[in-house]
Amino acid sequence: MDRIVIRGGVPLHGEIQISGAKNAALPLMAACLLSEETLTLSNLPHLADISTMAHLLADLGVEISMNGHAPNGGHAGRVFGLSGKNISSTTADYDLVRTMRASILVLGPLLARFGEAKVSLPGGCAIGTRPVDIHLKGLEALGAEIELEGGYVIARAPDGLKGGRYLFPMVSVGATENLLMAATLAEGETVLANSAREPEITDLANCLVAMGAKIEGIGSDTLTIQGVPALHAAEHSVLPDRIEIGTYATAAVITGGDLKLVGARLDLIEAVAEILGSAGATIQEIDNGFRISRTDCELKGVDMITEPYPGFPTDMQAQLMALMAVANGASLITETIFENRFMHVPELCRMGANINVHHQASAIVRGVEKLSGAQVMATDLRASVSLVLAGLAAEGETVVNRVYHLDRGYEHLEAKLSGCGARIERVKD
Ligand code: EPZ
Repeated sequence: MDRIVIRGGVPLHGEIQISGAKNAALPLMAACLLSEETLTLSNLPHLADISTMAHLLADLGVEISMNGHAPNGGHAGRVFGLSGKNISSTTADYDLVRTMRASILVLGPLLARFGEAKVSLPGGCAIGTRPVDIHLKGLEALGAEIELEGGYVIARAPDGLKGGRYLFPMVSVGATENLLMAATLAEGETVLANSAREPEITDLANCLVAMGAKIEGIGSDTLTIQGVPALHAAEHSVLPDRIEIGTYATAAVITGGDLKLVGARLDLIEAVAEILGSAGATIQEIDNGFRISRTDCELKGVDMITEPYPGFPTDMQAQLMALMAVANGASLITETIFENRFMHVPELCRMGANINVHHQASAIVRGVEKLSGAQVMATDLRASVSLVLAGLAAEGETVVNRVYHLDRGYEHLEAKLSGCGARIERVKD
């Protein structure tokens, strides 16, 4: 398995190009199943999860043409043409679903267009049990018959889905995406109350509208959808990845550097920018992005609590904890979305951080002068990158093992960081 080796202590200076959002690209790719015409997606990031979703869709019969980079040259992401014309199967097998939970996002589209779907239950992952009960209850509210058999969800709607009202019992990004896609082809009106409002959902809704869907309340917590008989071809560019933006912004701050994030949108990371500013960063909007630096002031401890958008995103919790580990003062970090998302704590402590976790929900971080490089283990995507950030700031050498987690969510990570002066390299075993 590959490892990443970092020799820390170098303030980062330069520019980083932000890629398309993984968590927007995955539902957008699933949306191609809703139409027999071609959905063309641009600015897709080069990530393992994107390849897995492409593999899953191809297994279902989607014809995928990969058209290389978009016209504006090397930095832009890939362009995929996805045609749902000749779907040959409505079954998503365990072997693929277990490698990527987001595979569950094919359930709603398949059921809506074909009246049936058989999708393996995704199972949990390192950060939690990750149930899909809300996805299933929501589809039942649209008239689906759902059975669980042999680890699979077997969903049927022989007379098609019928519009209905569904109040999400808790905010769920994936369940909102599944229901939103399903509702576009359901007969009549669907109201989805207490919907998630993440920018990736807004991006998906905008793409569905371009495909001919009728959706009101985009960006709000109540989505109203008038079903239509069919969706048509569309072209859509994936929005920038707000978690990548937040991650590299944190890299500038933790190393005491000065970075321009090109293609970044500050409006996507308001809660993160607020925390970074309070911690001592200077942020300045520039053409097509923003500049973030911390060159002459010390880091201050800041409390934070993860919440659904527009609150502080859980996907940035591990990264900000690495930053707080070297701040002057203490920081109380509370995780409210997932039940086990502090696995980066023992690894950061091996680097000299002073962090105590209480009842799995809160961590008190007492900043130390310096972290020391060490051999550390990655356990999930965002925990992995928090260890990279810690390594960039630490004295000495840090070796991050199991970097396949990183490849799921960060495109060309070492190249983007070494291009700004980081001493970072990938070692293949
Ligand atoms: C999406 O996961 C993201 N993944 C996650 O990013 C992100 O952390 C999460 O949203 C929260 O923002 C993708 O978009 C591919 P949820 P999702 O449904 O949809 C519980 C990353 O690092 N829940 O909003 O699975 C669930 O257990 C990944 O890029 C149920 O109980 O998240 C969790 O506690 C990690 N039943 C909470 O809701 C359900 O049916 C929020 O989960 C569904 C969810």
